[in-house]
Amino acid sequence: MKLKKKITLLSVAVALCCGGALAAETGAIAEPASKPWMDARKNPAERAELAVRAMTLDEKLKLVYGYLGADMESKKHKRPAEAHVQSAGFVYGVPRLGIPHLRESDAGIGVASQAGPDARPATALPSGLNTAATWDVQTAYAGGAMIGAEARGYGFNVLLAGGVNLMREPRNGRNFEYGGEDPLLAGKMVGAQIRGIQSNRVISTLKHYALNDQESGRTTLNVKIDDQSARMSDLLALQIANEEGKPGSVMCSYNRVNGAYACENSYLLTEVLKQDWGFKGWVMSDWGALHSTIPAANAGLDQQSGFPFDLADYFAAPLKEAVLNGWVPQARLDDMARRIVHAMFEHGVVDQPVVAAPEKIDFKAHAAVSLKDAQEGMVLLKNQGDILPLKKDVKRVAVIGGYADKGVLAGGGSSLVYPAGGNAVPGLEPKSWPGPVMVYPSPPLKAIQQRLPHAVVTFHDGSDPAAAAKLAREADVALVFATQWTGEAMDVPDLSLPNKQDALIAAVASANSKTVVVLETGGPVTMPWLAKAPAVLEAWYPGTSGGEAIASVLFGEVNPSGHLPATYPASEAQLPRPVLDGYPHVEDKRFDVDYHEGAAVGYKWFDLKGHKPLFPFGHGLSYTQFALADLNAGVKDGVLRAAFSVKNTGKVAGKEVAQLYVAPVSTRWEAPKRLVGFHKADVKPGAAAKVVLSVDPRLLAMYDSATKTWKVAGGDYKVILAADAGGSEAASQVVHLEAAEYDVNGKPLRAAPRQ
Ligand code: BGC
Repeated sequence: MKLKKKITLLSVAVALCCGGALAAETGAIAEPASKPWMDARKNPAERAELAVRAMTLDEKLKLVYGYLGADMESKKHKRPAEAHVQSAGFVYGVPRLGIPHLRESDAGIGVASQAGPDARPATALPSGLNTAATWDVQTAYAGGAMIGAEARGYGFNVLLAGGVNLMREPRNGRNFEYGGEDPLLAGKMVGAQIRGIQSNRVISTLKHYALNDQESGRTTLNVKIDDQSARMSDLLALQIANEEGKPGSVMCSYNRVNGAYACENSYLLTEVLKQDWGFKGWVMSDWGALHSTIPAANAGLDQQSGFPFDLADYFAAPLKEAVLNGWVPQARLDDMARRIVHAMFEHGVVDQPVVAAPEKIDFKAHAAVSLKDAQEGMVLLKNQGDILPLKKDVKRVAVIGGYADKGVLAGGGSSLVYPAGGNAVPGLEPKSWPGPVMVYPSPPLKAIQQRLPHAVVTFHDGSDPAAAAKLAREADVALVFATQWTGEAMDVPDLSLPNKQDALIAAVASANSKTVVVLETGGPVTMPWLAKAPAVLEAWYPGTSGGEAIASVLFGEVNPSGHLPATYPASEAQLPRPVLDGYPHVEDKRFDVDYHEGAAVGYKWFDLKGHKPLFPFGHGLSYTQFALADLNAGVKDGVLRAAFSVKNTGKVAGKEVAQLYVAPVSTRWEAPKRLVGFHKADVKPGAAAKVVLSVDPRLLAMYDSATKTWKVAGGDYKVILAADAGGSEAASQVVHLEAAEYDVNGKPLRAAPRQ
């Protein structure tokens, strides 16, 4: 009896310590009698631990190896039979243990697919920049919840969303997928979107980790930046998004950072992400971003994605050999598998497995979510003489350019969502990757005509500026639509509108003094015609309901409330890199991009250099007026808080984005001031909203690499209440901060004495 008990205990001990290895040796891969990891009352860490112990070596290896979920002729790749057609990725789960396969879809704007019999018509949100321009975390959350619901409806349990690469480079072709130039704004907005996605029990990624801020040479370039600057800029945006969104997975990027590829960069993957930030999920590589087995695995990469995008199947047989030889410790492989299943348990992917049911997707309700996002994010840049909103009794309106008769533009690349109704303007160049250029069938022209049943609304496609100008001259109001198509894997050569649209706008604006320019751009553009055009509306890529959204703002049914999430430079000469490194792209060329501006990104750089932008970060007009007042800032329990009021002094209801900046008086930062808080207030005419914001201490500190702490220097700081970063201070107050130290995640170490 005693002996039997001993044996039983021994086998329990063996199972606890090295069940995976034992199972592999014995080939025992039958269904286990009990599956304690399926007990949802246990916490994800416990469940992950138990599940990994029950896995064989080969099962663990399967989990860390992802396939492209689509056929790829050039590489003779057939998608795994279990993968959804036209999907970005597929990873085998461990059905024997109740661990489902991972089915991955792009991206942050909606469920992506391409035209063809297998297209998956889905709802496209406006661009990420538009969502950032709402400055409204609830809108970002709602958009995330909507696209997450479609991902689930289409049978995906991972959405490759959460793009938060900081806009260091306004020519970056992927800016439209991201959250702009400020770490606080971008981190909060993208974090909220991730939370929304994951509320569907679908895992979201956070990407692209890290410093992948331009597309030219993205797979070969090497970013040079010091630790302090990185932690206070790009990494801070990712850190905040990680805290806010708690993504199950992080996608490492294509580029190199200080010499090492991001996906085999132990500083990024192990030190910063896993040790410093305590990230418990898994790191997947971007598609084609992996270049090794042993360096990558030992640096902290947990999963290869999208084979055969990489040169080799690094995390398949080569990883097995490396583990068997001890070149990659068994414990590291266990950690990879544990992290993957931990995220699956934590985010409900195991307990509430996804079952595809596209027929249950409520596309009507989802279109309304996309519409609201677009309406909240459009930025009224200029409105001289209040020519907007358009009056309903206008008699003759000329609508010109931008495919406004057909629809609204979308950005190109892996994030492209195929819409119900298909491409409204097929055949535009480039037709192939990162094309096709997509125009969503939501024509502004039709939405405008519907609002003006008794007016003559004429359209000209803008191809002949003289003819367009003639039409404009004969109209009461001219609406010129201008587009800038941007896409993945390419940058724009400069910030000018392409295809001679500047000349078109100039001609129309010269012909009619009541010209309204509607921009559909991936990001900032220059506007040589600005003095001639009294009104400009930045409509970004406005998504599935874009035409309707634009018309509702033009006619004042919706009062514009978007504010710029990025600086609009007056010219490329104002940028830290007037000439874009690595442009035009040369295959295989290795080169450095020196982020000499450090953490002084966007408006911080403009402040530092005294450059006057075309439009500052944070700028955005309304059809009403606001007064920001009653600023009262102070330190309580070591936390800087500011109370203030937002008064609507105009005649219609509207929303104002109140912004709080801090400028050090007695110490120096990387730049004269930083955004430290914001709030979008919805205020009726004559009313005032009271707002209180408390400030994350990291935004008042300098990061100290030697001690891994955020250090607030004791001294005076000017708290500024403003409606943009361009010097329009509504109120300010100097406060005194005591010296204080915070850990790497901003938690107090040596808090300032109570004041
Ligand atoms: C992109 C990722 C995307 C992946 C899968 C890559 O080209 O950089 O953002 O998620 O492809 O399609």
